[in-house]
Amino acid sequence: MNTDRLARLTTAMTEQDFAAVVLMPAANLRYLTGLTFHPGKRLTLAIFPANGTTPAFVLPAMELAQAQTHAGLSMSFYPWNDADGPQQALADAIADTLGSHTKGRLLGVEYTAMRVMEMRALEHAAPGAEIVDAVPLLANLRMVKDQEELEAMTEAAQIIDAAIYRTIAQIKIGMTERELSAICTQEIKAAGGEGESFDNIIASGPNSASPHHNNTDRQFQSGDLIIIDCGARYKGYLSDITRTVVVNEPSAEARRIYELVLAANNAGRAVIRPGITGEQIDQAARTVITAGGFGDYFIHRTGHGLGLEAHEPPYIVGGSTMPLPVGATFTIEPGIYINGVGGVRIEDDVVITEEGGKSLTNFDRELIVLQV
Ligand code: CO
Ligand code: CO
Repeated sequence: MNTDRLARLTTAMTEQDFAAVVLMPAANLRYLTGLTFHPGKRLTLAIFPANGTTPAFVLPAMELAQAQTHAGLSMSFYPWNDADGPQQALADAIADTLGSHTKGRLLGVEYTAMRVMEMRALEHAAPGAEIVDAVPLLANLRMVKDQEELEAMTEAAQIIDAAIYRTIAQIKIGMTERELSAICTQEIKAAGGEGESFDNIIASGPNSASPHHNNTDRQFQSGDLIIIDCGARYKGYLSDITRTVVVNEPSAEARRIYELVLAANNAGRAVIRPGITGEQIDQAARTVITAGGFGDYFIHRTGHGLGLEAHEPPYIVGGSTMPLPVGATFTIEPGIYINGVGGVRIEDDVVITEEGGKSLTNFDRELIVLQV
């Protein structure tokens, strides 16, 4: 499996004339090697050369045994200890993978992950190399999920379906957003999740008018809309669901915006097919809300890619004109947010199949009116 990913990386590097990519401990390294290191203060860098030489892993000596045990592909290891520091190990790794001539050659790094510490060390070890951004190349590799990834994502979605159901069942008047958030976290673990995809969002009453609300001690009241946005991690892969419920009777306006958001979610999912663009999907969902008179209140993109990271390409937004392939996974999450009234968002995770869009999350989308 990982050798196939390495082969695709090598092809992409060759096409773009990269001599190598040099990766931090993060999602891309996990994707290629199965290794899940956290970037501490000690230099840890993996070098994947385009010339077919075995990838090199420069790492603290105390991490060596763990890396050798868990690496999902063949690598050469360059451990360093605290007394000596990493520079010689990095220089040796560069020499063994790229040779002594580095001037003018392209080294791809993750602009969103690499720190000045690693950047300076790399410049020193590979004099004259041109350091460029490898994030787009790597994102492209990861966008199409293989069977193993789709199985993990399906499981992550089933876990969050179960967890959100059990979370909603425990809502009571007088409970706070933070209390429900803690319940949601517990239910994700109880349902088999390794943890949360991100800090869950519980936005109640007027707070639901803010798409990225920070949970507070506000207590639930009769008539509240409550937005619950949460996700589960399984084998490193994430789910991301949002449902909006109402405590006792909804106002006529709350019911109206709910029906519009639901119709937009349905329209966004229905239009998905191989080759569609993010912009077209965004338009399909947005048109419903605009036609209903609430276009100015749908204040974010329709969705984002999902996988090892909670936000990754493709983005479901105007200007996203790349045809999307079978195997791409992303969210559909239209919303309406009205200051002083509240908001509604309904979010599902989908995968493009030959037949169209398949929803991985399947928890009930109809308005749930809690009688509590
Ligand atoms: Co979400
Ligand atoms: Co989302």
